[in-house]
Amino acid sequence: MVNFTAQQLRQKFLDFFASKGHTIIPSAPVVPQNDPTVLFTTAGMHPLVPYLLGENHPGGKRVADVQKCIRTTDIDEVGDNRHLTFFEMLGNWSFGDYFKDEAIDWSFEFLTSEAGVNLDPSNIYVTVFEGDKDVPVDHQAIGAWKRAFRSHQAHPIEAELSEDIYNFGGALKIFAYPRSKNWWQAGDKGPAGPDTEIFVDTEGSLPEEMRVKHNRWSTESNSKEKCHVNCDCGRFIEIWNNVFMQYNGLGDGKYEPLDQQNVDTGMGFERLLTYLHGQNTVYDTELFKAAFDVLLEQIGTVTNDQEVKSRIIVDHLRAAVFMVADGVIPSNKERGYVLRRLLRRAMVHGRLLGMRGDWVRNILEVYIEQYKTQYPEVGHGRENILKVILEEQTKFGKTLEQGIKVATKFKEQHLGDDLSHNAITGEVAFDLYQTHGFPKEVTQELFGIRNPEAFDEQFQKHQQTSRTASAGTFKGGLADHSEQVVKMHTATHLLQAALRKVLGEHVQQKGSNITPERLRFDFTNSEKMSVEQIAETQKLVNEYIQKDLRVSKDLMTPDQARELGAIGLFGEKYGDTVSIYTISDKTDGTVYSREFCGGPHVEHTNEIGKFTIQKEEAVSAGIRRIKATIE
Ligand code: ALA
Repeated sequence: MVNFTAQQLRQKFLDFFASKGHTIIPSAPVVPQNDPTVLFTTAGMHPLVPYLLGENHPGGKRVADVQKCIRTTDIDEVGDNRHLTFFEMLGNWSFGDYFKDEAIDWSFEFLTSEAGVNLDPSNIYVTVFEGDKDVPVDHQAIGAWKRAFRSHQAHPIEAELSEDIYNFGGALKIFAYPRSKNWWQAGDKGPAGPDTEIFVDTEGSLPEEMRVKHNRWSTESNSKEKCHVNCDCGRFIEIWNNVFMQYNGLGDGKYEPLDQQNVDTGMGFERLLTYLHGQNTVYDTELFKAAFDVLLEQIGTVTNDQEVKSRIIVDHLRAAVFMVADGVIPSNKERGYVLRRLLRRAMVHGRLLGMRGDWVRNILEVYIEQYKTQYPEVGHGRENILKVILEEQTKFGKTLEQGIKVATKFKEQHLGDDLSHNAITGEVAFDLYQTHGFPKEVTQELFGIRNPEAFDEQFQKHQQTSRTASAGTFKGGLADHSEQVVKMHTATHLLQAALRKVLGEHVQQKGSNITPERLRFDFTNSEKMSVEQIAETQKLVNEYIQKDLRVSKDLMTPDQARELGAIGLFGEKYGDTVSIYTISDKTDGTVYSREFCGGPHVEHTNEIGKFTIQKEEAVSAGIRRIKATIE
């Protein structure tokens, strides 16, 4: 293992790419300057989009940087071994200059040579895009990886593409995955393309006692999927992504080729540092040491119970420092709301740990000191950072104590001496949320919730009422739960999945109406469907029905849902809970459909019966309608 300090590692990366003709540029702010589509800079590419689209960069066609990023999609995973709200991304860029061969060569060279960080290539695994009907399998990337692995001086490897993702090790180094894994774009619109991701095997390099306790199963959609390089059990850590941006997303699932072929890479700085130091989690790195010390001063040691809480605190306060340094202030909307949520969550956890006095200030001071060299705005903003965050602490402190009183009183009144019921009910938790704005997870952490499902049900009910009222969709479906309607409802999801297969991913639901006699489904598609397409769609739906797929419901945040590729979410905000229906194969976990929906649905698709498309017709320009029956 190589022990670079954080600062040495940043420098090593920049020096390496400078030696390959890159101009080093400073980080852009975490608040995007010219992009209204995102709240925060979530990747190094955001500030560089104009150059990926063809504008001339003042630094030339090759640049490299260390970019400050904020991702709130991973917020619920913060506290595990590798997810962070704020992180730094090391990136090298080609604006219409070099492409796949050089990018892959240099990634490999940086990772495995003395000029870089000198990792053992036997612990490196890579993934590439497997191709689909629009874009072919990434042969060029596969070829480049084979050459790179073979070229290593001390440990050349005759790397191969593995036909089976569950089969890895030895020469089986390269794995192909679909669009859901190996395609990158920041939003519907803008530069996009296939990517190749680089993973390190934590089991290959760490001594037994240091290894992450892997659960051996991917936790995605709770499927019992075996471990593979790109599963999320924690054994393999993705450290670097190389995106080959050669398309421009037009916003409706359609792409046009870009005039220039670009490279956008992003290496997770904290993850690389963790791995290089043979550490178990990003929180073990020097980046968090001083902040943890502030907590430890008061609580002595962090017990297992306190571990996640303390990680959330150090993560959230660090993100907050960078947000405020770039001009965000706590409020009830957009960026301000995200900042407020992070701060309040940190403070609740602080209270749960029993932190008293100036602890928040002390942690802020630690971070300001630590980051002011790399990011001068943090040093210059010191007074403002302290003021803004400490004011929020004072304000929220009162609400928190108030809420605790209300809930404690309620608990006493309702539970009396019945100590067997220590936690409050989901219904009360929902009341607390509605009247005092206490988020569910805060209540959960403070008091425990006996039946959290009841909270979710109430939440859904309130959400669903407003959604149904305003959208006017699914009226028949939700009002009438008769058996036939429920079947139609599930058939509608299968129909949408089949249409997206047959016509393409631009297909989006524009309306749905269900009666016990028929389903009606409106969707985006510019042309009339051909007879073959209709037949193919009908056949696919019936295949799905006969496969007897399982229909399951999960509650999650919209961001988690999006991350899983769920469709049908319109503008849901950070922090809400949505219900997602997944239709998947019982035995191998393959997902056929994943949609936002209030339900209800059948549990197994073979309950549906035979599906027949009766009619395909136009509704308006670009929108088609299908009527179908089941028997
Ligand atoms: N833009 C790519 C990512 O963030 C590199 O993963």
